[in-house]
Amino acid sequence: MGTKLKIILLLIGILVISACSNDNTQPEEEMDHSTMDQDTMDEHMSHDEVVSLNDSTGENELNIPPMLEPDAGDDNQVEYTVRAQKGKTEIFDGTETATYGYNGSFLGPTLRFKKGDQVKITTINELDEATTFHWHGLEVSADADGGPHEVIKPEEEKVIEFEVTQEASTLWFHPHPEGKTAEQVYNGLAGLFYIEDDNSKSLGLPNEYGKNDIPLIFQDRIFDDKKQLNFSADMNEDGTIGDTLLINGTLNPRLTVNKEKVRLRLLNGSNARNYTFKLNTGDSFDQIATDGGFLNEPVTLKEVTLTPAERAEIIIDFSQLNTDEEIALINEDGAVLLPFEVSDQKNGVASSIPEEMNNFSITEEEMNLPVTKKIELFGMMDQVTLNGKKFDPERIDFTQEQGVTEVWEIYNKPDEMGGMIHPFHIHGTQFKILSRDGKEPPENERGWKDTISIQPDERVKIAIQFKYKGVYMLHCHILEHEDSGMMGQIMVE
Ligand code: C2O
Ligand code: CU
Ligand code: CU
Repeated sequence: MGTKLKIILLLIGILVISACSNDNTQPEEEMDHSTMDQDTMDEHMSHDEVVSLNDSTGENELNIPPMLEPDAGDDNQVEYTVRAQKGKTEIFDGTETATYGYNGSFLGPTLRFKKGDQVKITTINELDEATTFHWHGLEVSADADGGPHEVIKPEEEKVIEFEVTQEASTLWFHPHPEGKTAEQVYNGLAGLFYIEDDNSKSLGLPNEYGKNDIPLIFQDRIFDDKKQLNFSADMNEDGTIGDTLLINGTLNPRLTVNKEKVRLRLLNGSNARNYTFKLNTGDSFDQIATDGGFLNEPVTLKEVTLTPAERAEIIIDFSQLNTDEEIALINEDGAVLLPFEVSDQKNGVASSIPEEMNNFSITEEEMNLPVTKKIELFGMMDQVTLNGKKFDPERIDFTQEQGVTEVWEIYNKPDEMGGMIHPFHIHGTQFKILSRDGKEPPENERGWKDTISIQPDERVKIAIQFKYKGVYMLHCHILEHEDSGMMGQIMVE
């Protein structure tokens, strides 16, 4: 933190000195940001100094999203209805905040599918504005994916059908209308969906929803003095970052757990904030899953970082911790995110963390494939681009053959001020990280991913294929960057 600040100050100094001494004799390209006014520059400078989150006081028990019951279905067939709605939510005691939600006033229920299911979802737009229903991380044909082309107007509905063909994982859904994603998510449109399979059921992991298998959607917000969300006033083009954390929409949450292994399914559902989760006691935990499935074996960590849209499943074993101490999940800077209240009770069903959980692998062949697509992420504020361009719904940027694995290289090109992390996401598929700057990815990234954080000047190689055809989005998951056009399209044929 401290050194970063010093570097930024140094850079400001250099910029000021060079701007003064050169007296405009330098060629234009020396100052790439010459068109930006001072306000814009200041805002960007402040980006690295992200406002800290207020500590959770722990006064409210964490809200667990309801599990959505299917409308109909039998063994391998399920039907759901998901409505985008607006409503009012008592986030602060005694005050109603205007919010959006799915099948309710704020956030959404959790949906659960089994691998092999035939799923039919009736999506209904009850908002006053157009929206889409995007299934983030789901391997599905493009017409069911809910990208910006799948607009549903107010009072309209659309039925999507798909078969679940991927392995057990924690995925999520959110709107994706062109230019309006950030605002709609900010107002409350987001929910989780789980995929289970024979493997996930047989591993013996904690899996009692809301008891020892806990969904955690992390979102930071800014509330005005009337305790309302006011996106247009608070919006930051580099991503709207607030001082107030909501987990599953709960302000000042605490989680009561038994003295046992507890599985936390972490989703960074924020527009732009990155989190580095750790325990205040310095104890370690095990990461068991990435965005798209289980790791081969648990990875013991003291902290895990998630950029927007990334997920991690971790297990904290409260039976091994000294529960005389206060235990809390905290952020890198020490902000208390989620205090735990450890009850003495033991659950009837014991769970375990098996040594072997999956058979994820990267083949020799994949390692040796040449790079066939290059993606360059660049810029800041509303000047963000993907391969030098802004999103154009009429333009196809890439094509790939269905079922064929390619290697892509994604590069985060820094600017004079160093640049910033861009979380890069691809629709309709799960991919493998082959390397980060030529090196093997960390152990907890050796699993299926649909969103990856890319540091300034970092080059990441991935192996990727698409199971289905159609046009898919690839974009930065800082939602304001996505809305500003840091997004491209790939046609799978
Ligand atoms: Cu989570 Cu294109 O989105
Ligand atoms: Cu997505
Ligand atoms: Cu970005």
